[in-house]
Amino acid sequence: AVVSSSPASLDSRFRALICEEGLLSQLGWAASRAQCWVLVFPPQVLVYELLLGKGFRGAGGRWKPLLSRHQARLKAELARLKVRQGVSRNEDLLEVGSRPSPVSQVPRFVRVNTLKTCCGDAIDYFKRQGFSYQGQASSLEDLRALKGKHFLLDPLLPELLVFPAQTDLHEHPLYLAGHLILQDKASCLPATLLAPPPGSHVIDACAAPGNKTSHLAALLKNQGKIFAFDLDAKRLASMATLLARAGVSCCDLAEVDFLTVSPTDQRYDRVQYILLDPSCSGSGMLSRPLEEQGSGTPSQERLRALAGFQQRALCHALSFPSLRRLVYSTCSLCQEENEDVVRDALQQNPGFRLAPVLPSWPHRGLSTFPGAEHCLRASPETTLTGGFFIAVFERAEVPSSASQAEALAPELAPGPAPKRKRRRKADVQAAGAAAEAACGK
Ligand SMILES: C[S@@+](CC[C@H](N)C(=O)[O-])C[C@H]1O[C@@H](n2cnc3c(N)ncnc32)[C@H](O)[C@@H]1O
Repeated sequence: AVVSSSPASLDSRFRALICEEGLLSQLGWAASRAQCWVLVFPPQVLVYELLLGKGFRGAGGRWKPLLSRHQARLKAELARLKVRQGVSRNEDLLEVGSRPSPVSQVPRFVRVNTLKTCCGDAIDYFKRQGFSYQGQASSLEDLRALKGKHFLLDPLLPELLVFPAQTDLHEHPLYLAGHLILQDKASCLPATLLAPPPGSHVIDACAAPGNKTSHLAALLKNQGKIFAFDLDAKRLASMATLLARAGVSCCDLAEVDFLTVSPTDQRYDRVQYILLDPSCSGSGMLSRPLEEQGSGTPSQERLRALAGFQQRALCHALSFPSLRRLVYSTCSLCQEENEDVVRDALQQNPGFRLAPVLPSWPHRGLSTFPGAEHCLRASPETTLTGGFFIAVFERAEVPSSASQAEALAPELAPGPAPKRKRRRKADVQAAGAAAEAACGK
């Protein structure tokens, strides 16, 4: 049984660490690979549990006395090995090529759609399905350590649940019913930072397929108005499905070139908030294979064309007369589409400045102009999210650092994490399929 057990059925990290990468021999257990295999398979699970997992926990059978005898030495050797190699985490012992990529470690973020349910009910539903709720995370490390059927509340964004990276919820009844939106954390920031209060009028200038629009509608509690524009009829069609499923009722969708929307049209007299998430190179998108990131940098010509459009769209948006606050975002990592666009727009619109948002966010704009540190960047390595860029503009005469902080405080203050069980039957009716967050058009 030992020899015939398939190596493929073993945990790959364990195989790499204990056998393939020769950790046992590095630990001083001289054995050929074949010997190692025979020697190792049943106890390898135990060694794994001992060194990397949760200990023997009552298992072990006839191997247990042997391993118990060597337990202290194994642990000491592992610790020594890490010191020798100057690393602190077990996974850093692996060859670079066999380490999990940062992209594959980005957790599955799930926004609870407060138009249809509340966090407490969503959490209860998952608990009834055998998931274990760990409360509100206090750091990115908590998110990085998530595994199995554990889940958390995000440390920063309320209503954002976090599951281990490979969790697939595309068939989950709450997702199909529009109670949950599968949306990366970075993509939840634009609406959160725009923070339109209920009753406001908002423009979503490049809106399809609409995850940020549905987030805006949730913040508005469906009170007020969202004017959502997009050029692409097909994307607008899937957006209409997505919004219907999410219970959005405060949105006017229009197949329109945003650059042709007149800022002086009286329909937009009351628009104080604009979200501009224009087409971009998508160089930060997670769905791209890792090899493409960086090496798949868009051509200078494409970047120039994209940045030209982004620049025009941003200046057009800043010309709406009642505008107080605007969020500019891309899922691009390129300075040309991000800091450069923002710098030029500020130069051309001296009535606006950058709002100093989320001072504790670890990844800031590239220091290419004074104030660029107010911009936010995001990446798998630094924030455990997709690659993203955000700048928040506010009208300079609005005495706003205070008012903005007030506006954001309720959104971002880490409120008490839902703990209590509340009884309510969740709606498990399946709805039609729709698009997950999409960018980079
Ligand atoms: C990055 S995607 C927007 C994603 C969307 N905000 C979301 O969160 O689901 C950019 C969108 O801009 C649209 N677009 C491009 N040029 C446009 C224009 N001139 N006016 C309006 N929409 C435009 C594209 O069709 C595309 O759907």
